[in-house]
Amino acid sequence: MIKNITCIGAGYVGGPTMAVMALKNPHIKFHVVDINQSRIDAWMSDELPIYEPGLFEVVQQARGKNLFFSTDVEGAIKEGDMIFISVNTPTKKYGIGKGRAADLKYVELCARQIAEYADDDKIVVEKSTLPVRTAQSIKKILSATGHGPKFQVLSNPEFLAEGTAVEDLMQADRVLIGGDQDEAGLAAIEELVKVYNAWIPRERIITTNIWSSELSKLTANAFLAQRISSINAISALCEATGADVEEVAHAIGTDSRIGPKFLKSSVGFGGSCFQKDILNLVYLCEFFGLHEVARYWEQVVTMNDYQKSRFGSKIISTLFNTVSGKKIAFLGWAFKKDTNDTRESASIYVADQLLNDEASISVYDPQVPEQQMYLDMEELETRPMEVNKQRLTMTDDAYEACKDAHAIAVMTEWDEFKTLDWQRIYDNMKKPAFLFDGRLILDRKKLSDIGFEVYTIGKGK
Ligand code: NAD
Ligand code: UDX
Repeated sequence: MIKNITCIGAGYVGGPTMAVMALKNPHIKFHVVDINQSRIDAWMSDELPIYEPGLFEVVQQARGKNLFFSTDVEGAIKEGDMIFISVNTPTKKYGIGKGRAADLKYVELCARQIAEYADDDKIVVEKSTLPVRTAQSIKKILSATGHGPKFQVLSNPEFLAEGTAVEDLMQADRVLIGGDQDEAGLAAIEELVKVYNAWIPRERIITTNIWSSELSKLTANAFLAQRISSINAISALCEATGADVEEVAHAIGTDSRIGPKFLKSSVGFGGSCFQKDILNLVYLCEFFGLHEVARYWEQVVTMNDYQKSRFGSKIISTLFNTVSGKKIAFLGWAFKKDTNDTRESASIYVADQLLNDEASISVYDPQVPEQQMYLDMEELETRPMEVNKQRLTMTDDAYEACKDAHAIAVMTEWDEFKTLDWQRIYDNMKKPAFLFDGRLILDRKKLSDIGFEVYTIGKGK
């Protein structure tokens, strides 16, 4: 019987997942730990470290009752009957597999810490997205302790999307739990099933062997990203031919075999997961000698890179082949609406391209702080920080960002951009006033009537 659940990693997944689990399982104590003190402080405050609609209300209901946050990793490992590993698994930036393989050093460290501190039996749950067969390495580290406790390792990948995390957790399409298929493994699976069954109907909880569960997560993200790259590929053809990508998406999406979701053409997908997980899949295929399969999935990322640079190039070519010294306003920096997360956001790469062409960029985003934007640019290492700071600035007002701009680029689909006073924006811009809608959220006809020269992804002239 599970009384205490520990989660290592208080990030975008660990925080919201444990908060919802705690709300739905008031009889279980949840302890979320992280090495990042400021992140933990924020989880305990009224300013949570991540922005997610509805999250604060959930945290407020459970925090201090059966949901606790701290940096006491050792204590939390000792007390947890079940321990979730929800740490980051970024793309490796060094050595073998650099630029492709998942960097598992944080996960390995967690396994080593669990092995060191645990003094009774534990169920260890992989919540992080991991390459198939990682559980084997975790088991090996855990079994090497030799001091008594027995461990069961489960895979329970997370399918929430940022911006809708609470909704996705509350009404999950499905929950996936993989484990060993022997008696002890099946019993451990059942313990986790019970935790979810507090609010998820049993028929939506899928149980599998551990390798299927690990691989399903990478596969789900690869399929989702593939749909976006597919529609983005068609958007280029639409622009060349006069077809309209929204009409095409609607026409194909009504085929029940294809379905309407995830067919929104855009400036390119971002976020911490899609690119990382596909590259990881590519690496795994290569590792197993499946080179054709690797090339197949790699194209999804290649097409996404093309879509981002195609958008940047369109801005430059439309502005008479140079943006040098011109002011470009970016509406949005986050990788999608309703989040403050900027990881792999298309804005970063399009900004970099325009800065290479000596543009001045003024950014407005309702949730992203300026400091984060500079950290994102610094990671690219394209130019010295002073130059980024001279040419790239952030304002906390959309109208200010667009004032005296030669062009506006809509980079994130924040709802508030739809209701801006576009006449006012037009009046305060340089003419001709160019507008590049990278998210297909604006009324093209209305803006053209005001006087804007509008370019919308996937729409021919
Ligand atoms: P994150 O970077 O937001 O959070 C990870 C946290 O783990 C950080 O706060 C870090 O300080 C902490 N950490 C790292 N090593 C630690 C250690 N040894 N002890 C204690 N804390 C440690 O990452 P995230 O977005 O929450 O993603 C976590 C995992 O979930 C990744 O594998 C990711 O691929 C997967 N995932 C993410 C999403 C998403 O939408 N972000 C969705 C599904 C799955
Ligand atoms: C994704 C998966 O959806 C989720 O199941 C997984 O757990 C983590 O990775 P996330 O990255 O948070 O979630 O957001 P998602 O809604 O999938 O969007 C990813 C990117 O694709 C965003 O940049 C978004 O703007 C873009 N996108 C999404 C499109 O360009 N078109 C679409 O139709 C959908």
